Amino acid sequence: MKPRAPRRTVAADPDRELFAQALDELVGAVLVLDDQLRVRAASHGAAEVLGFEVPLGGSAATLLCGDRPKRPFAEALASGVGFQAVIPRPGRPGDASGEQVRVRSIPLGGGATTQGWIVLVAAVAGDDDAPELFHGLWTRDPRMKEAFRIIEKVAAEDFTVLIRGETGSGKELVAHALHARSPRHAGPFRAINCAALPANLLESELFGHVRGAFTGAIKDTPGHIQLADGGPLFLDEVAELPLELQAKLLRVIETRTVLPVGGRDPMPVDVRVVSATHRALRAEVAAGRFRADLMYRLRVIPIRLPPLRERPADVRLIAGKIIDELNQRGRRRIESISLAAEAAMERHEWLGNVRELRNALSYAFAIGEGSVLELGHLPPEIAATDPGGAEVTVVAEAAVLDPELTPEVRRIRDALARTAGNRDRAAKLLGWSRVTLWRRMRAHGLDAS
Ligand SMILES: Nc1ncnc2c1ncn2[C@@H]1O[C@H](COP(=O)(O)OP(=O)(O)O)[C@@H](O)[C@H]1O
Ligand SMILES: [Mg+2]
Repeated sequence: MKPRAPRRTVAADPDRELFAQALDELVGAVLVLDDQLRVRAASHGAAEVLGFEVPLGGSAATLLCGDRPKRPFAEALASGVGFQAVIPRPGRPGDASGEQVRVRSIPLGGGATTQGWIVLVAAVAGDDDAPELFHGLWTRDPRMKEAFRIIEKVAAEDFTVLIRGETGSGKELVAHALHARSPRHAGPFRAINCAALPANLLESELFGHVRGAFTGAIKDTPGHIQLADGGPLFLDEVAELPLELQAKLLRVIETRTVLPVGGRDPMPVDVRVVSATHRALRAEVAAGRFRADLMYRLRVIPIRLPPLRERPADVRLIAGKIIDELNQRGRRRIESISLAAEAAMERHEWLGNVRELRNALSYAFAIGEGSVLELGHLPPEIAATDPGGAEVTVVAEAAVLDPELTPEVRRIRDALARTAGNRDRAAKLLGWSRVTLWRRMRAHGLDAS
């Protein structure tokens, strides 16, 4: 087994380390601020509660309250009185785990001249973040739980549901959940991926065809819509449906009949349409690629699944469940995840969401040995363990932690760190061309030479 990665990857300043340890010993999770409300010292306990290494010198108000419209704690600090509050756990932009922290500020120096502050931080154990399992979907995230409650409510009725979420975020599981909870659950679950077939094949798959409709149409063949009669029809990646088929689908929904390719007589059908897409349909409509009337028909009940990177607590939770599953297979038993591996997993963007997480863990399970899942066992794009590994990790750490960086700079740095500076792969990660990456880097004053 490889030696365990050191707990902290940022080269520690000896003073900082000394004060951090002293504070840990004395009070636990705490920040020390100067009169300008800049963080001058932070204990390791504070980093643990907040979930990231606290950057020194930055504004505490920004650190704790970000740029949320309501910042009672930031205001209280600025006004100079001691204050206690429960605030959302600060994190990266868009990071809405639903976790909360209790903060208490104590002014230093008496009277009108506050010389600084001690801010105590503590994790709040909310009931909100208890793990929940819903038809194969694990989560601690309040927004996911809200989606489950909506599913419970609408499953019993024949509402038309549109599920929106990135690839691998659980759309198909949600469609199954809707089916399982519907009065039609005895019927088959029919799914068709609108992105997987060329238009002409898709048309005949969906709507069916009659004998002689085209070369090779040797007999009348029902399509998925007809086969789904009495049950649900799951249209995956519905935004990819070509415009002319959108018109045909709209007619099915409006008239409750289907006309097979080459057919003359529409046949009555009774289907419940559940569709899914990773795209914003509204934007597709605005771009002229999707019919507005069909959008309104499909998204009677919209359900949105937040991406995994916005659910950091779910990364740990679901990773644990997947590891349990892998352990069942017997070749190896993983009992724990090293801190470095866990940190890398929390930092990763998971563009492939839970599917990517599952693949990464299967990889780690196969590649590594022993009872601890180490950083080096993870796929390179997650671990970024290249020869220049130490330096690369520092960049990644800084990219996540420095609140002064714009989100785009952070994303660029993060992508470069994860690919050990390989521009081609970084551009791919970002979904950009190499030239775009170069241009964006130059625009931000990053070394683009
Ligand atoms: N919240 C979750 N908990 C456990 N497994 C999940 C969760 N979300 C997705 N998965 C798993 O991730 C994979 C991708 O899910 P899927 O529903 O096919 O995503 P999508 O249809 O959005 O691409 C599947 O193996 C699924 O079981
Ligand atoms: Mg899918």
